[in-house]
Parts: sequence; C-alpha cells; structure tokens
Amino acid sequence: MKALVLYDSLGGNTSKVAQRIHRTLQEADWVDSHLIKVEKVTELDFYEYDLLFLGSPVIAWGPTNAMRDLVMGRLRAYHGDRIRPSAPLRPGKFGVSFCTYSGTHIGVAEAIPLTKWFSSFLGHIGCQILDEWHIPGEFHGQEEANVAGRLGDIRGRPNEADLAEVENRVKGLLAGLDAWLKKT
Ligand SMILES: Cc1cc2nc3c(=O)[nH]c(=O)nc-3n(C[C@H](O)[C@H](O)[C@H](O)COP(=O)(O)O)c2cc1C
Repeated sequence: MKALVLYDSLGGNTSKVAQRIHRTLQEADWVDSHLIKVEKVTELDFYEYDLLFLGSPVIAWGPTNAMRDLVMGRLRAYHGDRIRPSAPLRPGKFGVSFCTYSGTHIGVAEAIPLTKWFSSFLGHIGCQILDEWHIPGEFHGQEEANVAGRLGDIRGRPNEADLAEVENRVKGLLAGLDAWLKKT
C-alpha cells in the first residue's frame, strides 16, 4: 500500500506530527510511505497513493496559503476528467485529515473547519475518510494564548504524549486496513 503524508508547518508543530505518522507507517512492511512538505512539491498526483494523510497548522481556521494553493490547484486540474459527479468512491483509497491548532478562542471549533476542508478534497477524489485528527500545538511567540486559551496550558505541545497518541492512532488504522486487505 502506497502512503503519502503531505503536510505544511510554519513553526515545526505539524512537522512533528507528520514525522511521527510517517515513522509509524514505515514500521509496517506492507506500507510504502512518503513524507512530503508542501513547499517541496513539484509533481504530485494524489491518485497514485492508496492512503493519504493531509495536514496543516490551523491558520485563521484554514490551511496555510501554500497548502491551499496546492490542493486547489490539484482540484482544478482533476475537475471534469477525474472528479466526476457524485465523486465515486475508489475501492482501496483512504484518507486522514490532521492539523495542529492552539484553540485559543473557541477551542477545537477553530480546527474542525480545516480538517473538514481536507476531508472534502479527499472525498472529491474518491477516498473513504478514515479519521480527522486535531492535535493541540503551542502558539509560537504568544505567551498569553498558550496559558489562557480554551485548551489551557499548551506550552510545549505537541508533546511526547500527543505524539504517542498519534502513533497509536496510526497503528490502529493500520490494523484495521491490514484486516481489510486480508479480508479477515
Ligand atoms: C498566523 C497564525 C494564525 C493562527 N490562527 C489560528 C487559529 O485561527 N486557530 C487556532 O486554533 N490556532 C491558530 N494558530 C496557531 C497554530 O495553528 C498552532 O500554533 C500550530 O500548532 C502551529 O503549527 P506549526 O508549528 O506547524 O506551524 C495560528 C498561528 C499563526 C502563526
């Protein structure tokens, strides 16, 4: 199974999550995982992958500009030819959306629009959405936001406990997919 972990990160938080996802995927000998930061993309065809992880920091409830440009560019390129009305599901193609966010003002409600946005794209290209992950991330350089927001004290997050949880979630998904592949 060919996997892609495509992410953006302005300050390193989302990068930590993406790397942990990729590392965990690599531990499964039946998964060929590729980790790509959005700025490194030259050629990329989402249809080449079976398992897509799309991640970004939450920036004003949405993705980074680079991530938005890439996704919307591919959406335009696929429209009409590969993206068909009713977005037929492509068997064996799966997607997971993830983000890091600070949730300073209204908590996880600031992050859900972003993962829904990713999932909407994944749905358009026929992926079955497996999950949407919202991981707290320190707001770089914003001391008050890091202690007085809706998520409480988020200094140093994502921390090892957050990353261990991500790892467990990836392992759980892989166990489910492995069983599905073997039709057990
Ligand atoms: C310009 C800017 C806007 C942000 N907007 C939001 C926001 O609307 N909601 C939120 O929960 N976090 C917001 N954040 C916080 C980031 O999503 C959070 O710190 C994230 O973990 C940063 O990830 P990174 O280190 O990978 O860039 C914003 C951060 C920046 C720099």
